[in-house]
Amino acid sequence: MALIENKKNEKPVIDTTNLKLAQSDSYNALLRGNNEWVERKLKEDGDFFKNLAKGQHPQVLWIGCSDSRVPANEVTGTKAGEVFVHRNIANVCVHSDMNMLSVLDYAVNVLKVKHVIVAGHYGCGGVAAAMSNKQFGLIDNWLRHIKDVYRLHSHELDRITDETQRQNRLVELNVSEQVYNLCKTSIIQNAWMERNDLEVHGWVIDLGTGLVKDIKVSSSSPHNLGYVYELDSIEAVASH
Ligand code: CO
Repeated sequence: MALIENKKNEKPVIDTTNLKLAQSDSYNALLRGNNEWVERKLKEDGDFFKNLAKGQHPQVLWIGCSDSRVPANEVTGTKAGEVFVHRNIANVCVHSDMNMLSVLDYAVNVLKVKHVIVAGHYGCGGVAAAMSNKQFGLIDNWLRHIKDVYRLHSHELDRITDETQRQNRLVELNVSEQVYNLCKTSIIQNAWMERNDLEVHGWVIDLGTGLVKDIKVSSSSPHNLGYVYELDSIEAVASH
């Protein structure tokens, strides 16, 4: 009944007039910002949204940190439609994370992206928290993956006496291990058996300059994965 009445009076179905938070500047700024963005885009290209609505053909999958300072499109100067994005705290790629695997599978096998980029950043709160012994709550179980990265590279990290430098190095090593984790997935390995135009890269963003550092761990084949990680093709297993 309420819905029919709303239709008759042409009121919005969700009435936000008595929401105190909706009156706040930070919330209204988003709606204003959206209107301004639409205006700006239409001024540049009158068909921008008409074309956007037709579908997406991004060439890149970005796996970055949830940190508000590292938005994929802004950092790379790309537009809506150009980058498929997955973000989580400290850009961790865990092979049992159904969310990450679904994004990766869709990007690689349906969208056929050519580049997968793991993008970390210096000053990452997640990495700093993982380096400490403090408890922060549920997140400690997620950050455990980064503590494992620390343990893998403790011989190098423990020698760095300056804490910021040690943290920066862990940011880089975390990105490199997450690139390695992606390459170990059956998704990436099967894609490499089918096509030779898929590369996985590791980046670190410097928040102080805005610049990206390519940490040179790019991979386009399973050959340096190591003896237990490289998978045979499914056909080879079936015929065995
Ligand atoms: Co971060």
